[in-house]
Amino acid sequence: MNYTEAKAKLEAIGQTHLLRWYDELTDTEQDALLAQIDALDPSLLEVFSRFNGDGELSRGKLEPLGAVTLEEISQERERFEAAGLEAIRQGKIGAVLLAGGMGTRLGFDKPKGMYDLGKTHPLYIFECLIRNLQEVVDKAGAYVPLFIMTSEKNDEDTREFLEEQKYFGYDPDYVHFFIQDMAPAVGADGKILLEEKGRIATSPNGNGGWFSSLVKAGYLGLLQREGIEWLNIFAVDNVLQRIADPCFIGATLLSGSDSGAKVVAKADPEERIGVLCLEDGTPSIVEYYEMTEEMVTRREPDGRLSYNYGVILNYLFQTSQLTNMLDNDMQVHVVNKKVPYIDENGTLIKPEEPNAYKFELLVLDMVHMQKTCLSYEVDRDYEFAPIKNATGVDSVETARALLEKNGVTL
Ligand code: UTP
Repeated sequence: MNYTEAKAKLEAIGQTHLLRWYDELTDTEQDALLAQIDALDPSLLEVFSRFNGDGELSRGKLEPLGAVTLEEISQERERFEAAGLEAIRQGKIGAVLLAGGMGTRLGFDKPKGMYDLGKTHPLYIFECLIRNLQEVVDKAGAYVPLFIMTSEKNDEDTREFLEEQKYFGYDPDYVHFFIQDMAPAVGADGKILLEEKGRIATSPNGNGGWFSSLVKAGYLGLLQREGIEWLNIFAVDNVLQRIADPCFIGATLLSGSDSGAKVVAKADPEERIGVLCLEDGTPSIVEYYEMTEEMVTRREPDGRLSYNYGVILNYLFQTSQLTNMLDNDMQVHVVNKKVPYIDENGTLIKPEEPNAYKFELLVLDMVHMQKTCLSYEVDRDYEFAPIKNATGVDSVETARALLEKNGVTL
C-alpha cells in the first residue's frame, strides 16, 4: 500500500491522524506504518461504534450442563484410553498451544512459557507442558504434531528459546509455529491510538483467532494431508494440564460429540471461572461475572451446584467443523484496558487507569459454535495449576505447590 492509498483508506474511516507524523519518519518506518494501515480491519471500528459498554451480556436461555464425572471416567478409563491411543497412533490428533498472550498480570517481560518455576534447577513452563505431552507420545508410540501460536510480540523469543532448549526433547519435525493476528486499540472517541509516531498501538487479537491464523499460515494442507481430524487446544499457563490426553480423546470420540471440554468442579460457588452450560440448547460458556445470583447458588437434588463445571481452556475440536466455520464471523469482544499512547503533541502517555479499548476474539465462543460438547471432568489437584499472577490466586506460588504435590521436583 502506498501513501495515497493509505490516506484514502483512512479518510473513509475518519482516521487520518495516523499519518500526522508521516513526513518525519525514516523510509523504513514509513513502510512499516503503511503496512499496518493496510492490515487494519475497518469492521472493528464498526464494532466499536455499536459497543455500548454492556452489549456483550445479552444471552440466550441458559441451562445447566452436567459432565462425565471423575467416577464415571474411572470406571471407563481402559475403554476410553484405548480408543484415544488408537486415534493418536492413526495420526488423527494434533495439539495447539495458545501462547500468543501478553501475560500482563504475571508481569514477566518474556513469553510466559519461558518463566522458570524451578527452585534448585531450571524448570520452565514450556518444559512442563512438553514433558506432559511427551508422556503421551511415549505411551502411544507415535508423535502428536504440536502447533504453537505466538504473536508478533513474542514469536522471535519463543522460537529462539525452544530451539536453544532443543524443544525439551520433542522431535522438532513435529513442532510448527504460527503467528496470530494483531488488532489496534482505540481511545474512547473511537480514534485508533499510536504507540510511536510511526506505529499504531496494536496487541494480539485474543485467543479465538487461532484457527484462522493457523490456516493463514498455510497449515490447512498439512492437517488434511496428514489426516489430523481433531485438535486439542490448550493454554500456556496451566502447567499441570494433560495434553492430547488419550482418555479425554477416547471419551469424546466414543460419545459422538462434535467437541470436548475439560472441566473442573467449582471449588466454591463464587469461584471466578467460566462455566460450561447450554445456551438455547447448544454448548456455551458463561463467564462468572455474567451469572445471576440464582445461577451461582442453584443446586441439583444431589446437592451438587447446577452450574458446577468450570472450563480450564483445554478443548477438543474437529478440524472439519472448524474449516466449515471459517466463513462465520466470530463475536468480537471489546475490552477496556490500559494502553500507552502518544498524544497529539507526540508525548508518550502511560495511563494509570484503563484508557482505551482492545478487540479480542475468544476461544470460548468456538464452543458455542459446536452443536454438542462433551463436558469431561478432571481432578483440579492433578490437572489445574494456572499461572496468571506473580503471587496470590492462580500464581507462580500456587502452581509450584501443586507441581510438588504431583511429585515434580522444583
Ligand atoms: P489469558 O486470557 O490469561 O491472557 O490467556 P494473557 O494475555 O496470557 O494474560 P493477561 O490477561 O495479559 O495477564 C489465556 C491463554 O490464551 C492465550 C494465552 O497465551 C494463554 O495461553 N492467548 C491469549 C493467546 O494465545 N492470544 C491472545 O491474544 C490472548
